[in-house]
Amino acid sequence: MKVEVIKADRLKPLPDSSSLGFGTIFTDHMFNMDYSPEKGWHNPRIEPYAPIMMDPATMVLHYGQAVFEGLKAYRTKKGSIQLFRPGENFKRLNRSCRLLCIPELDEYFLLDALKQLIAVEKNWVPAAPETSLYIRPTIIAMDPFLGVRASNTYRFYIILSPVGAYYAAGFNPVKILVTKEHVRAVRGGVGEAKTPGNYAASLYAGTSAHKLGYTQVLWLDGIEQKYIEEVGAMNIFFVIDDEIITPVLNGSILHGITRDSVIALAREWKYKMSERRISIDEVMDAHKSGKLKEIFGSGTAAVISPVGELKYGDKVIAVSDGKVGPMAGKFFKALTDIQYGREKDTMGWIEEVNI
Ligand code: PLP
Ligand code: COI
Repeated sequence: MKVEVIKADRLKPLPDSSSLGFGTIFTDHMFNMDYSPEKGWHNPRIEPYAPIMMDPATMVLHYGQAVFEGLKAYRTKKGSIQLFRPGENFKRLNRSCRLLCIPELDEYFLLDALKQLIAVEKNWVPAAPETSLYIRPTIIAMDPFLGVRASNTYRFYIILSPVGAYYAAGFNPVKILVTKEHVRAVRGGVGEAKTPGNYAASLYAGTSAHKLGYTQVLWLDGIEQKYIEEVGAMNIFFVIDDEIITPVLNGSILHGITRDSVIALAREWKYKMSERRISIDEVMDAHKSGKLKEIFGSGTAAVISPVGELKYGDKVIAVSDGKVGPMAGKFFKALTDIQYGREKDTMGWIEEVNI
């Protein structure tokens, strides 16, 4: 399929890349493509960024049948632009599609279309330290219909947003609240899909955490509320003694690509790396006995985010004395060095964009 390109008549002014926040500025163009049962995925086009007109009965607005992805394009010191493991994002998009009954897409075509879009928007990839172009592929159900069933028609689109740090704290420790009252997802549900409902389900607990001065919620499993799952927008790692532990993929947490990359680096460096069940009690006990060295989160938006404080019930613990731990620092540096092309990519994770 050939991608049609319709350029915008007027371009927006580029933002100052030294003061970017997260997710508020959008580029001049977007990628769009439609699905119908007769034509399959069709009409791929890059066109001016614009609102989507929809019938108030459009199914996505009522039943949340939608999936999305999050990845980034990085500007290297040489001025080139590169993507980090984009194929994994499109694979995960298709996994989310299967769980949400949305027709799958050709991952190779999507990667090619994304590269074309970024080439059109190359001036929007910021160059200031630790900034990037955040990429949001999204699929929404488009039938105007009020009955509950899978939609017959869909829109796929990609929008781009130049970003800085996700958390206002930047690469500094965040404070995390462990919630026992609320759950995000359960095994057998759609927890491992990147679908809006999971984020909607997180808002009540997230808002309560914010009111108490915490950045995000650490979710426990939906059945026993005992085992650790993940944080609002990132997977989670614990360093206990000489073991690095992250919860095993159990169906209710996202298969994080940063998570997978941290695990691969840890194994490359011959660390003791475990993907296993870990309970909140194990973490609190390890802290009590002085064995809990570090906690950090991993995500595309959050990169590596050290946790400096954890609150569970009426217990509040300081982790790594509230500072950035050495392990979090090491993973942050290794990942960002590869992403920004400061170090050679020996893992085969980088995909160049021809500009
Ligand atoms: N968990 C949740 C709920 C997320 O939203 C994200 C962000 O994408 C992650 C984990 C981390 O996944 P990744 O490393 O692929 O960005
Ligand atoms: C990401 O890290 O890409 C995310 O999707 C997190 C959040 C912005 C939802």
